[in-house]
Amino acid sequence: MLERSVEWIQGKKSRGMVKLIDQTRLPFSFEHVYIKNVDQMVEAIRTMVVRGAPAIGAAAGMGMALAAINSNAGSRDELMDRLAQAKRKLDVSRPTAVNLAWATSKILAKAKILDGKVPSIVRGVIHEARKIADEDVATNKRIGSHGAQLLSDGDMILTHCNAGAIATVGFGTALGVVRAAVAMGKQVTVLADETRPRLQGALLTCWEMQQEKIPVIHITDNQAGLLMKMGKVSKVLVGADRIVNDAVFNKVGTYGVAIMAKYHTIPFYVAAPRSTLDLGNTSKTVEIEQRDPAEVKTVFNKVRLSPDGVPAFNYAFDATPMELITGVITEDGVFTPDQLLSNYSEQSL
Ligand code: MRU
Repeated sequence: MLERSVEWIQGKKSRGMVKLIDQTRLPFSFEHVYIKNVDQMVEAIRTMVVRGAPAIGAAAGMGMALAAINSNAGSRDELMDRLAQAKRKLDVSRPTAVNLAWATSKILAKAKILDGKVPSIVRGVIHEARKIADEDVATNKRIGSHGAQLLSDGDMILTHCNAGAIATVGFGTALGVVRAAVAMGKQVTVLADETRPRLQGALLTCWEMQQEKIPVIHITDNQAGLLMKMGKVSKVLVGADRIVNDAVFNKVGTYGVAIMAKYHTIPFYVAAPRSTLDLGNTSKTVEIEQRDPAEVKTVFNKVRLSPDGVPAFNYAFDATPMELITGVITEDGVFTPDQLLSNYSEQSL
């Protein structure tokens, strides 16, 4: 199994740093980035060194721990101020995935109820951040075992973007389901939408599946409809960045895939942990991240596509309405959209 994408490296006393797999380098080279303060973490999240909703949640939690360590706070109030400041920076580093604010809120709430002097609260904050990461791996394994029941031998599973081990702390959500099904002896093939413009499907999903010897086929995003019509897609399985009460936010293009799946009566499943649920909100309230148009107008700033002077949209996520979704797989089981709402209606950040 792949090493964790986000890992706390404990130093002497209450010092520490965070080791990230540099996802901007994959699959060409496997490198790490070491993060020592909250500003470096904000930058790593913004530039997608670390990406994928659960992974950036865990990274943000550790960003809070770094802020606590580096605060040199002389009092409890000062430490709380520093943590609140760090939370504000981290939460806006990528606005769509709710896991960021979920993790930073959890850490802040924990810090507020911890007794003792500043050093002991700092240790408590580090402990909480590490716990979020540990729990993420365990959660994904549970998602995997629930979701694997839905897959059959011979399935061709279309996925969009990368909801794999590196998009989480480990194991993955949508690709965790695939991993779990393969571990049960089912033979499935992944059809990886390449996912313009950042190409997470081509670069990361294909790489991850190949590492584990799980059959994977790279497709351009615009082949999905044709392959569905040809009967080459059994199921669609994607991750999520935020699930509100009327829609699932995920990588831009997911909405189109869901419409095509509905038209071809192909089941469409979303795999996501409870930390991605934001059921108190509706899709109208969610900010869709807009990234630099250069990501669309070029291939990684190396090959120019449209001529200079032509504008480009670069919305990073879209919202798939609940009526297009067959089921949502969480660590607690598989739910229809209605069941999801009734089961988790009390959940808030
Ligand atoms: O822009 P990204 O690469 O962070 O987008 C990632 C996705 O859209 C994933 O599908 C989602 O975060 C779920 S990851 C388990």
